[in-house]
Amino acid sequence: MTVIKINAITVAAESGDELAHRFAARAGAVDDQDGFEGFELLKPTDDRTTWLVVTRWRDEAAFQAWVNSPAFGHGHRSQAERDGGPAPKPVGVNSELWSYEIAGGSTAQ
Ligand code: HEM
Repeated sequence: MTVIKINAITVAAESGDELAHRFAARAGAVDDQDGFEGFELLKPTDDRTTWLVVTRWRDEAAFQAWVNSPAFGHGHRSQAERDGGPAPKPVGVNSELWSYEIAGGSTAQ
């Protein structure tokens, strides 16, 4: 059964664009992972400063395999670090992992 893993990243109000920029720079980093079904980066449209990375996985094991893989660490390292340079400061001031499964719903016809 599909599992939903949400990384809720809180940023300083002025840092949201930089977060979006960093995600855009890493697009595709997880696409080939076994059991990965897709993700969306959700930007708040009210005055909240918590962005949501909503990811979908075939099952819990597929998610755990990714989080514990070198690919996860690699995908979370900036280009500068990969080139041997210093890491840029993270834009997030806090992050939380939320875990969900689909309990109901419908799709428009
Ligand atoms: C649910 C799965 C995920 C977890 C647990 C996770 C974990 C994290 C954590 C702990 C941070 C640091 C937040 C902070 O700065 O406080 C982060 C940032 C980030 N993650 Fe993920 N992540 C997930 C999914 C993804 C995916 C699918 C991508 C894109 C392929 C991605 C790309 C990034 C980027 C670009 C950042 C910003 C790093 C920065 O500030 O430079 N993450 N993630």
